[in-house]
Amino acid sequence: MSESVTVRVPAKVNVFLGVGEREFNGYHDLATIFQAVSIYDEVTVTRSTEMALTVTGSYADVVPTDDTNLAWKAAELVAQACGERAAVHIEISKNIPVAGGMAGGSADAAAALLACDELWNAHIPRDQLDALAAQLGADVPFMLHGGCALGLGRGDLLSPIMTRGNFHWVFAMSTGGLSTADVFARIDELRLDDDQEIDVAVPEELMFALAQGDAKALARHMHNDLQRAAVDLKPELAEVLSYGRQSGALAAIVSGSGPTCAFLAGSESSAIDLVVALKSSGLVRDAVHAHGPVHGARVVHQ
Ligand code: C5P
Repeated sequence: MSESVTVRVPAKVNVFLGVGEREFNGYHDLATIFQAVSIYDEVTVTRSTEMALTVTGSYADVVPTDDTNLAWKAAELVAQACGERAAVHIEISKNIPVAGGMAGGSADAAAALLACDELWNAHIPRDQLDALAAQLGADVPFMLHGGCALGLGRGDLLSPIMTRGNFHWVFAMSTGGLSTADVFARIDELRLDDDQEIDVAVPEELMFALAQGDAKALARHMHNDLQRAAVDLKPELAEVLSYGRQSGALAAIVSGSGPTCAFLAGSESSAIDLVVALKSSGLVRDAVHAHGPVHGARVVHQ
């Protein structure tokens, strides 16, 4: 029986994010296209006498290390589901920006679900693991699956999407985060002044661009309904987005609820040039190159 299991889990970008009305459960109806990208956290769970959580890496100082961490909650859910005592040490090695719109907390939760299932030999069927994931948060099921998927409902009703090739991305991290709940609340306020119908359909051209691996066509149809709210709460993001476009990005959007900005590049070399330009701009905390789609949470060591 293994004493410890490590799972590697990617970040995500919403290539398209259509936000509908707020439903009775407090969540907005979404039509989103997720793509898993090659920025990874690693989550290791080790048998212990009680629950404990430690964090290392780039954002260690701002991640909670108690039962408010979604990974801790994930371990407790798996323990409950398989009749084990919840007693593991969870170690998170963080690279995914925190409160950045790249599902970092959700990724760690998905990784902890999978790692505990493996550690305790629980063999929870995939549909039940998906249900536990959805209980933890709207983005958690996608972080288990990875690849590229359409997310409906709260974003948790997933259908895989066919894609070809590799897309090159640059992600620019801001100083400070944005709360997902605040950004969703702000879009509701801003929409009070709109007289347009809310339309959350994903354009067919965007699905076609993904299937063809056509970055230029994808760039024409990328969109994020939350961008307006994120920029309203953090106005400096407008400058970051326009700087990226001027520096060669095919498209620039806020990633999820932000404040991380996602730039689609036409090639690996243009992505690397963009990283250099953004890093020297003084506008962002950091910028990294990543590619997608990549696999979801995977056991890498036990
Ligand atoms: O599911 P998760 O806990 O990550 O969501 C955080 C918050 O974001 C929710 O409490 C809700 O306020 C908002 N949200 C939403 N509609 C969604 C997803 C999230 O309003 N589809």
